[in-house]
Amino acid sequence: MADYASLDVNLTSKVAPATEHWREIDALREQHRYFWNDNGGYWVLTQYDDIREAFNTPEIFSNRSIVATDPNPAYRFLPSFSDPPQHMKYRHLLNRWFAPASVNRLAPRIEELARQTIEPLAGLGRIDFIRSYGDGFPVKVFLTAMGLPLDDADFFVEAVHRMSGDTPGRPADLTAWADIGRYWSEKLAARRSQPLDPEVDFVTHLSRCELDGEPLPDADVVDILITLTLGSLDTIKAQLAWCLYHLATHPADRRRLVDDPDLVPSAVEEFLRAYPIVGMARKVTRDHDFHGCPLKSDDMVLLTIQAATRDPRQFPDADQVLIDRFPNRHIAFGASEHRCLGSHLARCELQSSIREWHRLIPDYRLDVEGTLPAHGGLISLRTLPLAWD
Ligand code: HEM
Repeated sequence: MADYASLDVNLTSKVAPATEHWREIDALREQHRYFWNDNGGYWVLTQYDDIREAFNTPEIFSNRSIVATDPNPAYRFLPSFSDPPQHMKYRHLLNRWFAPASVNRLAPRIEELARQTIEPLAGLGRIDFIRSYGDGFPVKVFLTAMGLPLDDADFFVEAVHRMSGDTPGRPADLTAWADIGRYWSEKLAARRSQPLDPEVDFVTHLSRCELDGEPLPDADVVDILITLTLGSLDTIKAQLAWCLYHLATHPADRRRLVDDPDLVPSAVEEFLRAYPIVGMARKVTRDHDFHGCPLKSDDMVLLTIQAATRDPRQFPDADQVLIDRFPNRHIAFGASEHRCLGSHLARCELQSSIREWHRLIPDYRLDVEGTLPAHGGLISLRTLPLAWD
């Protein structure tokens, strides 16, 4: 008889009423420090300290795969699917582009993009936030950060929709992945023959990078660009929607932010903590007893960031959303050398959007009867109907 819990919980594809996913994960964390999930076949760690420790022990918790249900992926996210010391070599090539100083230079443009996207919506009085803002804004910021014109925004929005299967009536379509790969391969070939300014154009920058004294292989460049594309569009859309969902349903918090926009940065940190959208997995390198959890070589382990950032052992009143919470050592962007490359850009996007939205549309409400459904995995709303007078 195994002395660990073996459960069957759908943590990846269930549809449930809006915030139900977190209620379920909170309950699991309080019942089980870890458990084996028969639904997908992987371990689940639930507590903040354990998850931080696992993130910081790459010799046991490897990045050979980060998808709990897929221990031997046929695809490759970069730099995600790499371990030390190789991983740091990739990050050295990428970090500067996404560092606070680089994001600060982009910030006025990001604010302008937010304003330009919201202004035409303000007079409508009723929108689906996800379609009207969540689709359009992150892709514009992404292309701007890549140093590209906005002409190809529709291509990315459509491809990412196909990939995540959120076009009604259409299942996830993995040919979209190939289309995104082809787009970046062609861009790379174009830059190799006609380079642009490597301080402005990210593909030109990558085309000149070296790894171990050799040019960075084309396959690496394309895998990095695919990872950036997939990592930066749906995440921002989902996180922003939860920010607006909270503020639509908590008028007192909304009023505080409208009256005191200086609160926006700490509110964003609290939304990242209280509405955490992603978990990450690791692959076990050797048999190991992790605080009683009998890990075997090649097992997959889900590090449920969504449970960790809501763990009352770390956060007083963890189930309360306190928009001026301090300190707030959440790990919504991860907690190791693999920490989200785009975290500074993401913060800037979230803050600019909330500031501009509430300057232009300070008062609004959910425009829906009953509860809104949300998807698991990347915990996300598929629609967020809002209305205002
Ligand atoms: C709210 C939005 C976002 C959230 C919640 C988020 C969350 C995360 C998390 C949890 C990780 C994994 C860390 C790990 O495996 O240990 C990660 C990695 C990553 N993210 Fe984000 N992310 C967001 C936005 C972005 C954006 C805008 C970009 C691109 C500009 C981006 C690019 C990446 C990349 C490239 C990695 C891999 C880093 C590595 O393995 O070294 N993310 N993100």
